[in-house]
Amino acid sequence: MKKLVVLSGAGMSAESGVSTFRDSNGLWQNHRIEEVASPIAWQNNPGMVLEFYNQRRKQLFEVEPNAGHLALVKLEEKYDVQIVTQNVDDLHERAGSTNVLHLHGELKKVRSTIDSSLVYTLDHWELKWGDKCEKGSQLRPHIVWFGEGVPLIGIATEIISEADFVLVIGTSMVVYPAAGLIGYAPESSLKYYIDPKAFPVSGISNLTVIKEKAGDGVPRLVDELLVDV
Ligand code: OAD
Repeated sequence: MKKLVVLSGAGMSAESGVSTFRDSNGLWQNHRIEEVASPIAWQNNPGMVLEFYNQRRKQLFEVEPNAGHLALVKLEEKYDVQIVTQNVDDLHERAGSTNVLHLHGELKKVRSTIDSSLVYTLDHWELKWGDKCEKGSQLRPHIVWFGEGVPLIGIATEIISEADFVLVIGTSMVVYPAAGLIGYAPESSLKYYIDPKAFPVSGISNLTVIKEKAGDGVPRLVDELLVDV
Protein backbone atom coordinates (compact mmCIF):
# COMPACT_ATOMS: atom_id res chain seq x y z
CA MET A 1 0.00 0.00 0.00
CA LYS A 2 1.18 3.54 -0.75
CA LYS A 3 1.86 5.72 2.27
CA LEU A 4 -0.40 8.75 2.63
CA VAL A 5 0.29 11.33 5.32
CA VAL A 6 -2.25 13.93 6.42
CA LEU A 7 -0.98 17.10 8.11
CA SER A 8 -4.03 18.75 9.64
CA GLY A 9 -4.54 22.03 11.45
CA ALA A 10 -7.35 23.97 13.06
CA GLY A 11 -9.22 24.49 9.76
CA MET A 12 -9.84 20.74 9.65
CA SER A 13 -12.21 21.08 12.59
CA ALA A 14 -13.63 24.53 11.77
CA GLU A 15 -16.81 23.15 10.20
CA SER A 16 -17.38 21.05 13.32
CA GLY A 17 -17.67 24.34 15.20
CA VAL A 18 -14.19 24.46 16.74
CA SER A 19 -12.76 27.93 16.25
CA THR A 20 -9.38 28.28 14.58
CA PHE A 21 -6.55 30.22 16.22
CA ARG A 22 -5.82 32.98 13.74
CA ASP A 23 -8.99 33.52 11.67
CA SER A 24 -10.76 36.03 13.92
CA ASN A 25 -7.53 37.86 14.79
CA GLY A 26 -6.46 35.08 17.14
CA LEU A 27 -7.55 36.65 20.39
CA TRP A 28 -9.11 34.98 23.40
CA GLN A 29 -10.62 37.44 25.86
CA ASN A 30 -8.17 40.04 24.54
CA HIS A 31 -5.16 37.79 25.01
CA ARG A 32 -3.01 36.57 22.15
CA ILE A 33 -2.90 32.77 22.04
CA GLU A 34 0.83 32.89 22.76
CA GLU A 35 0.05 34.71 26.03
CA VAL A 36 -2.33 32.01 27.23
CA ALA A 37 -0.61 28.89 25.96
CA SER A 38 2.81 29.24 27.54
CA PRO A 39 4.74 28.12 30.62
CA ILE A 40 4.97 31.76 31.74
CA ALA A 41 1.19 32.15 31.62
CA TRP A 42 0.89 28.96 33.67
CA GLN A 43 3.35 30.32 36.21
CA ASN A 44 1.77 33.77 36.46
CA ASN A 45 -1.90 33.02 35.97
CA PRO A 46 -2.74 29.30 36.11
CA GLY A 47 -6.43 30.08 36.62
CA MET A 48 -6.58 31.83 33.26
CA VAL A 49 -4.78 28.96 31.54
CA LEU A 50 -7.06 26.35 33.12
CA GLU A 51 -10.11 28.37 32.10
CA PHE A 52 -8.90 28.68 28.49
CA TYR A 53 -8.46 24.92 28.13
CA ASN A 54 -11.58 24.10 30.16
CA GLN A 55 -13.68 26.14 27.73
CA ARG A 56 -12.08 24.41 24.73
CA ARG A 57 -12.52 20.99 26.36
CA LYS A 58 -16.14 21.72 27.20
CA GLN A 59 -16.76 22.64 23.58
CA LEU A 60 -15.14 19.40 22.46
CA PHE A 61 -17.80 17.37 24.26
CA GLU A 62 -20.42 19.23 22.18
CA VAL A 63 -19.03 18.92 18.64
CA GLU A 64 -18.87 16.12 16.07
CA PRO A 65 -16.48 15.14 13.24
CA ASN A 66 -17.33 16.79 9.90
CA ALA A 67 -17.39 15.53 6.32
CA GLY A 68 -13.64 16.15 6.00
CA HIS A 69 -12.73 13.95 8.98
CA LEU A 70 -15.12 11.23 7.79
CA ALA A 71 -13.75 11.24 4.23
CA LEU A 72 -10.18 10.69 5.46
CA VAL A 73 -11.28 7.44 7.12
CA LYS A 74 -12.25 6.00 3.71
CA LEU A 75 -8.66 6.42 2.49
CA GLU A 76 -7.62 3.60 4.83
CA GLU A 77 -9.30 1.12 2.45
CA LYS A 78 -6.58 1.68 -0.15
CA TYR A 79 -3.72 3.57 1.52
CA ASP A 80 -1.49 3.22 4.53
CA VAL A 81 -2.75 6.41 6.19
CA GLN A 82 -0.98 8.29 8.98
CA ILE A 83 -2.51 11.48 10.33
CA VAL A 84 -0.17 14.01 11.93
CA THR A 85 -2.34 16.67 13.46
CA GLN A 86 -1.61 19.97 15.18
CA ASN A 87 -5.11 19.76 16.62
CA VAL A 88 -5.69 18.91 20.23
CA ASP A 89 -9.25 17.73 19.61
CA ASP A 90 -10.10 14.04 19.10
CA LEU A 91 -12.29 14.44 16.02
CA HIS A 92 -10.06 12.34 13.72
CA GLU A 93 -10.28 9.43 16.18
CA ARG A 94 -14.01 9.87 16.68
CA ALA A 95 -14.50 9.83 12.90
CA GLY A 96 -12.71 6.47 12.85
CA SER A 97 -9.15 7.22 11.69
CA THR A 98 -6.76 4.63 13.07
CA ASN A 99 -3.31 6.23 13.15
CA VAL A 100 -3.34 9.72 14.64
CA LEU A 101 -0.29 11.49 16.02
CA HIS A 102 -1.03 14.62 18.07
CA LEU A 103 1.96 16.91 17.67
CA HIS A 104 0.63 19.57 20.05
CA GLY A 105 -0.94 17.31 22.66
CA GLU A 106 -4.49 16.32 23.47
CA LEU A 107 -7.22 18.37 25.09
CA LYS A 108 -8.85 15.45 26.89
CA LYS A 109 -5.57 14.48 28.53
CA VAL A 110 -3.87 16.09 31.52
CA ARG A 111 -0.55 15.37 33.12
CA SER A 112 1.46 15.76 36.27
CA THR A 113 3.58 18.88 36.69
CA ILE A 114 6.37 16.94 38.43
CA ASP A 115 6.39 13.73 36.37
CA SER A 116 5.48 14.20 32.71
CA SER A 117 5.07 10.43 32.25
CA LEU A 118 1.94 10.55 34.42
CA VAL A 119 -0.76 11.29 31.83
CA TYR A 120 -4.47 10.85 32.51
CA THR A 121 -7.58 11.01 30.31
CA LEU A 122 -10.38 13.20 31.64
CA ASP A 123 -13.95 12.02 31.21
CA HIS A 124 -15.30 15.46 32.01
CA TRP A 125 -14.44 18.97 30.81
CA GLU A 126 -13.15 20.74 33.88
CA LEU A 127 -9.61 20.63 35.23
CA LYS A 128 -9.46 22.54 38.51
CA TRP A 129 -6.70 24.14 40.52
CA GLY A 130 -6.12 21.55 43.26
CA ASP A 131 -6.64 18.51 40.99
CA LYS A 132 -3.52 16.45 41.61
CA CYS A 133 -1.60 13.49 40.21
CA GLU A 134 -0.92 10.38 42.26
CA LYS A 135 2.35 11.95 43.43
CA GLY A 136 0.48 14.95 44.82
CA SER A 137 1.35 17.64 42.28
CA GLN A 138 -1.01 19.87 40.31
CA LEU A 139 -2.27 18.52 36.98
CA ARG A 140 -1.82 20.65 33.85
CA PRO A 141 -3.24 20.37 30.31
CA HIS A 142 -1.40 17.79 28.18
CA ILE A 143 -0.63 20.43 25.56
CA VAL A 144 2.60 21.61 23.96
CA TRP A 145 2.82 25.28 24.86
CA PHE A 146 4.72 28.01 23.06
CA GLY A 147 8.33 27.84 24.16
CA GLU A 148 8.15 24.09 24.91
CA GLY A 149 9.70 21.33 22.82
CA VAL A 150 7.55 19.20 20.53
CA PRO A 151 8.38 15.65 21.70
CA LEU A 152 6.82 13.89 18.69
CA ILE A 153 8.43 16.00 15.95
CA GLY A 154 11.17 13.41 15.31
CA ILE A 155 8.63 10.63 14.72
CA ALA A 156 6.53 12.96 12.55
CA THR A 157 9.58 13.83 10.43
CA GLU A 158 10.34 10.13 9.89
CA ILE A 159 6.75 9.46 8.91
CA ILE A 160 6.59 12.24 6.33
CA SER A 161 9.96 11.40 4.85
CA GLU A 162 8.46 8.10 3.65
CA ALA A 163 5.22 9.54 2.23
CA ASP A 164 4.00 8.87 -1.30
CA PHE A 165 1.13 11.34 -0.83
CA VAL A 166 0.77 14.29 1.53
CA LEU A 167 -2.49 16.11 2.31
CA VAL A 168 -2.04 19.40 4.19
CA ILE A 169 -5.42 20.52 5.48
CA GLY A 170 -6.56 23.72 7.23
CA THR A 171 -3.37 25.16 8.63
CA SER A 172 -1.88 28.62 8.34
CA MET A 173 1.60 27.01 8.25
CA VAL A 174 3.06 29.60 10.60
CA VAL A 175 3.79 27.56 13.73
CA TYR A 176 7.11 25.72 13.65
CA PRO A 177 8.32 23.03 13.73
CA ALA A 178 4.99 21.66 12.43
CA ALA A 179 4.98 24.06 9.47
CA GLY A 180 8.36 22.75 8.35
CA LEU A 181 7.26 19.10 8.09
CA ILE A 182 6.15 19.41 4.46
CA GLY A 183 9.77 20.16 3.59
CA TYR A 184 10.74 16.62 4.63
CA ALA A 185 8.35 14.93 2.20
CA PRO A 186 10.12 13.23 -0.72
CA GLU A 187 10.32 15.47 -3.80
CA SER A 188 8.50 12.85 -5.84
CA SER A 189 5.54 12.61 -3.45
CA LEU A 190 2.27 14.18 -4.57
CA LYS A 191 1.21 16.98 -2.24
CA TYR A 192 -2.12 18.73 -1.80
CA TYR A 193 -2.87 21.76 0.36
CA ILE A 194 -6.54 22.31 1.12
CA ASP A 195 -7.36 25.63 2.77
CA PRO A 196 -9.67 28.44 1.63
CA LYS A 197 -6.92 30.95 2.42
CA ALA A 198 -3.98 28.73 1.57
CA PHE A 199 -0.77 30.58 2.31
CA PRO A 200 1.81 30.85 -0.46
CA VAL A 201 4.21 27.91 -0.15
CA SER A 202 7.43 28.12 -2.10
CA GLY A 203 10.08 25.54 -2.91
CA ILE A 204 7.81 22.52 -2.61
CA SER A 205 7.57 20.26 -5.64
CA ASN A 206 4.43 18.52 -6.92
CA LEU A 207 2.15 20.70 -4.81
CA THR A 208 -1.50 21.27 -5.76
CA VAL A 209 -3.28 24.03 -3.85
CA ILE A 210 -7.03 23.61 -3.39
CA LYS A 211 -8.64 26.77 -2.03
CA GLU A 212 -11.70 25.14 -0.51
CA LYS A 213 -13.08 24.34 2.90
CA ALA A 214 -12.13 20.96 4.32
CA GLY A 215 -15.75 19.79 4.27
CA ASP A 216 -15.90 20.29 0.48
CA GLY A 217 -12.33 19.84 -0.72
CA VAL A 218 -11.37 16.79 1.32
CA PRO A 219 -14.26 14.48 0.28
CA ARG A 220 -13.73 15.45 -3.37
CA LEU A 221 -9.98 14.80 -3.25
CA VAL A 222 -10.49 11.54 -1.36
CA ASP A 223 -12.87 10.30 -4.06
CA GLU A 224 -10.25 11.12 -6.72
CA LEU A 225 -7.49 9.39 -4.77
CA LEU A 226 -9.61 6.27 -4.30
CA VAL A 227 -10.43 6.05 -8.01
CA ASP A 228 -6.83 6.48 -9.09
CA VAL A 229 -5.37 3.57 -7.09
P1 OAD B 1 -4.57 28.64 12.43
O1 OAD B 1 -5.72 29.23 13.17
O2 OAD B 1 -3.29 29.37 12.44
O3 OAD B 1 -4.98 28.46 10.91
C1 OAD B 1 -6.21 27.89 10.56
C2 OAD B 1 -6.25 27.70 9.06
O4 OAD B 1 -7.45 27.04 8.76
C3 OAD B 1 -6.23 29.02 8.26
O5 OAD B 1 -5.24 28.94 7.26
C4 OAD B 1 -7.64 29.08 7.67
O6 OAD B 1 -7.67 29.66 6.37
C5 OAD B 1 -8.01 27.61 7.59
N1 OAD B 1 -9.44 27.34 7.60
C6 OAD B 1 -10.44 28.03 8.18
N2 OAD B 1 -11.63 27.43 7.95
C7 OAD B 1 -11.35 26.31 7.22
C8 OAD B 1 -12.14 25.25 6.68
N3 OAD B 1 -13.46 25.21 6.85
N4 OAD B 1 -11.51 24.28 5.99
C9 OAD B 1 -10.16 24.29 5.81
N5 OAD B 1 -9.37 25.26 6.29
C10 OAD B 1 -9.96 26.26 6.99
O7 OAD B 1 -4.42 27.13 12.93
P2 OAD B 1 -3.16 26.16 12.85
O8 OAD B 1 -2.37 26.37 11.62
O9 OAD B 1 -3.67 24.80 13.13
O10 OAD B 1 -0.79 25.38 18.73
O11 OAD B 1 -2.33 26.66 14.10
C11 OAD B 1 -1.18 25.99 14.47
C12 OAD B 1 -1.00 26.00 15.96
O12 OAD B 1 -1.09 27.33 16.46
C13 OAD B 1 -2.06 25.25 16.73
O13 OAD B 1 -1.82 23.87 16.77
C14 OAD B 1 -1.97 25.86 18.09
C15 OAD B 1 -1.84 27.30 17.71
O14 OAD B 1 -1.20 28.07 18.60
C16 OAD B 1 -0.84 25.05 20.04
O15 OAD B 1 -1.84 25.12 20.71
C17 OAD B 1 0.47 24.60 20.57
